[in-house]
Amino acid sequence: MDERSVVTAYRRLSGTYDRFFGPVFEQGRQVAIEKMGCQAGDRVLEVGVGTGLSLTQYAEGVEVVGIDVSPDMLEHARERLSEEQRSRITLTEMDAQAVDYPDDSFDKVVAMYVVSVAPDPKKVVDEMKRVCKPGGELFIVNHFSQKGPMAKLERLASPLSKLVGFRPSFPLDDFLAMADLEVIDTQNVNAFGYWTLIHARNS
Ligand SMILES: C[S@@+](CC[C@H](N)C(=O)[O-])C[C@H]1O[C@@H](n2cnc3c(N)ncnc32)[C@H](O)[C@@H]1O
Repeated sequence: MDERSVVTAYRRLSGTYDRFFGPVFEQGRQVAIEKMGCQAGDRVLEVGVGTGLSLTQYAEGVEVVGIDVSPDMLEHARERLSEEQRSRITLTEMDAQAVDYPDDSFDKVVAMYVVSVAPDPKKVVDEMKRVCKPGGELFIVNHFSQKGPMAKLERLASPLSKLVGFRPSFPLDDFLAMADLEVIDTQNVNAFGYWTLIHARNS
């Protein structure tokens, strides 16, 4: 999908996104945010924040910037925030492939269910690395294509992937080779462990 198609697809999906993709992706969001272990005062960038389903899970005192190309998804995210959350969470329409923040701006950068939706996943990861401080942490939750018996499940889930614009074929090894990440660990999340949480250190 090119960027215009992403915006159009998520304009259509924005009203129903939470009902369907809220529960389906929830465990991955929770595990990622727990693993981020954010402390008061941390500055976090969440790319492709969508309707902001994760935002209420950050502890008080954590400063969060959420960016997304879809104004419709962001509108839902804004509606969800309490007054306290509005004082420390900034939501901005922005392309994750060209992040308008200086180098080394954030302690932690996270992308949940985004890298295979964006037209150029490498640019997304390069930008995540650029705006994250050296020694900071990167978190990516995504579905990567499977091999062996899991390939059958993959075929069953492919209409779901198409609906949200996920690339149908996106092997983890290829992604890691392309992304050039200093991986700390990976963990399977969500139903059937079908999605992967990658935790990496920024060099
Ligand atoms: C599957 S949704 C995930 C939303 C949210 N992270 C969640 O956990 O539900 C993918 C989101 O990525 C956004 N997105 C896709 N390409 C993007 C890009 N290049 N820059 C910023 N956001 C993008 C879409 O607009 C959409 O809101």
